[in-house]
Amino acid sequence: MAAPSARGRFGDYGGRFVPESLVAACAEVEAAFRDAWADPAFRRQLDQLRAEYVGRPTALTPAWNLSAELGITLLLKREDLAHTGSHKINNVLGQALLARRMGRTRLIAETGAGQHGVATATAAALFGLSCTVFMGERDLERQALNVFRMRMLGAEVIPVTSGSRTLKDATSEAMRHWVGVTDTAYYCIGSVMGPHPYPWMVREFQRVIGDEARSQCARVLAAAVPTHVIACVGGGSNAAGSFAGFADTSAELIGVEAAGGAAMGDGRDGVLHGYRSRVLQDEDGQIREAHSIAAGLDYPGIGPEHAHLGDIGRARYVSVTDEEVIPALTRLARTEGILCALESAHAVAWVLRAAGTPELPAASTVLLTLSGRGDKDMPALMQHHEQQGERSS
Ligand SMILES: Cc1ncc(COP(=O)(O)O)c(C=O)c1O
Repeated sequence: MAAPSARGRFGDYGGRFVPESLVAACAEVEAAFRDAWADPAFRRQLDQLRAEYVGRPTALTPAWNLSAELGITLLLKREDLAHTGSHKINNVLGQALLARRMGRTRLIAETGAGQHGVATATAAALFGLSCTVFMGERDLERQALNVFRMRMLGAEVIPVTSGSRTLKDATSEAMRHWVGVTDTAYYCIGSVMGPHPYPWMVREFQRVIGDEARSQCARVLAAAVPTHVIACVGGGSNAAGSFAGFADTSAELIGVEAAGGAAMGDGRDGVLHGYRSRVLQDEDGQIREAHSIAAGLDYPGIGPEHAHLGDIGRARYVSVTDEEVIPALTRLARTEGILCALESAHAVAWVLRAAGTPELPAASTVLLTLSGRGDKDMPALMQHHEQQGERSS
């Protein structure tokens, strides 16, 4: 996938729609990223952290049992095995190194499912930076384990009580806070969203998923390249990283959104959080609240590069409902012994639905990125099972 234009555009999308006071801050991040990304010493440092701290390369696990049941070959890229339990650490270590290079002493972040907050708190601890994480009050309740993890790592977690009290509101609050502290703090955005250069920079930091998977697939598949590359999409960072490794191949790229947060499926062109993309809106153009059982997919926008890939037909975006997600998570757990995150279970659910249909014909070879592990979701699943038990008794 190509770099954006000089103005940070992917086709019609992207850009830098921020208040005057943040234009200079974004330009500074862009200059620092361009400089760092061209510096072999920075790349070496990041590669070393990936190997020694994150545990990369993460495994590529053939899901033999499910493959036999579905009549396809299903390969799982195991970002759930990365340190802190999701792909978010890939991006955060890159940005934290950049923050340190820029002389910043504090990281600011927003989080939904809490995985980006945990990753940011982790990197801050490692690099001796202080850390403030904004999180919607609703997500604080459903992701209490991750809130405690962040606090254990020394981060300050600030509850956001406005709007839907989820990721959208946490992001707005983090941006508002950044305006006043750009000299000392670095805003560590958690997905391929936000003003230029964030969508591009985060994709480059997540590209490691797709690059590793490409060479791993070449070792296990006769055709070297899978027929389909599939990942769940909130803002779209694990999907962008996965797609980046296969953009120049024949693989069909498929992003799976939550039906209640399907910015590609139901959104219209608009501006949100400093970038232009596909956004859920009402008739008056106001941002419509998203909903998903998975806190990390509960976001009304999507990264601008995805909107562009969708427009030019290079990637396809589908959606699954909340009701399909828990059965998919359970089936993966019981056939393969892998408890994935609710977010990742969206991608699994689509594969279960589509396998054997013209959308995903028999004998397809599928690379599916498991973006995270399910530990954070166990309390929610326990609650769900209790409610189900009550309903059936
Ligand atoms: C495990 C997991 N997967 C996926 C996502 C969605 O983010 P993205 O679309 O940027 O990969 C999140 C976000 O919090 C997450 O925690």
